[in-house]
Parts: sequence; C-alpha cells; structure tokens
Amino acid sequence: MEQKATETDQDSITRRFFMGWGLPVFIGIASLAAFLLTVLRMPFPVLLPGKSGRFKIGTKADLPPGTIKYFKDDQVYVFSDQDGIFAISAVCTHLGCIVSKDENGFVCPCHGSRYNLEGKLEKGPAPKDLPWYSVSRLPNNQLVVDKKKSVKPGIRFT
Ligand code: FES
Repeated sequence: MEQKATETDQDSITRRFFMGWGLPVFIGIASLAAFLLTVLRMPFPVLLPGKSGRFKIGTKADLPPGTIKYFKDDQVYVFSDQDGIFAISAVCTHLGCIVSKDENGFVCPCHGSRYNLEGKLEKGPAPKDLPWYSVSRLPNNQLVVDKKKSVKPGIRFT
C-alpha cells in the first residue's frame, strides 16, 4: 500500500516535470527542427524537370489569337496573339513556386514576385524573367512546346 503511494507520487512528479519543462522543451526542439528543415529546403526548387520536356499543345487552329491556355502538368502558359504563338514558363525563377496569371502579368504566391505579361521580372525576390520556350510544329501539324529549348522573349511560332 505504501509502495503504491510512492509510485503514484513518482508518476505525479514525472508528469509535473513533463508538463513544467519537458513539454516546452519538446515543443521548442520540434519547432527548431521544423524551422531548420524549412530553411535548408529553400534553395531547392519545388519542381523537378520532367522527362522529355516536350508536350503537345494542339494545332494552330486550336489556338486562335486571344487564346491563353495553362498546361498544368507541364507548368507552362501558352498564348496566341496576332503575331503568333508563344509559351512562357509558369515556374517562378526564385524558388520554383507556380505563378498565377492576372490581368497585369504573373504573380508568385510564395514571396510576391511579379512579372509582366511577357514574363519580364518587375518585382523580386525572383532574380530573373520567366523563360520562353520553343514552339514548333510536327509533321502532323501538332504544335509542340519544348521546355528544354528556351528562346528569346518575343519569339513566336507563326
Ligand atoms: S518562389 Fe519566391 S517569389 Fe516565387
């Protein structure tokens, strides 16, 4: 009976210690670990390059002037205007988040970088413009974007 009281006292002491010091120390260590993991992961892009980098976007007839299409699986916006068809990466040049399009251009939801409608950087922290990709036509008239071939901004498929 006396021994049981001692065990109960020890449980109580252990619980009090845990609630008094152990829990805050545990939470502190867990928070520090989460912070360090986040900081260490920052230099690496969220996305890894795909296999071939090439994907079909339809025929020229499928993309009349005024068309804006987002190819989610490939993270590329395809535009068609009076001068031709062009493709701009949707991957932010800062840390690889996916930018979204608005009426003024592109905005990155992660750290607020802004690009104009042609992907030119307007506000960091992103270090450079969104790349433009090559658009070409296959023998069967299918247009293809090649993410491994960047082109100078302004170059369109006609
Ligand atoms: S990932 Fe940081 S601004 Fe886009």
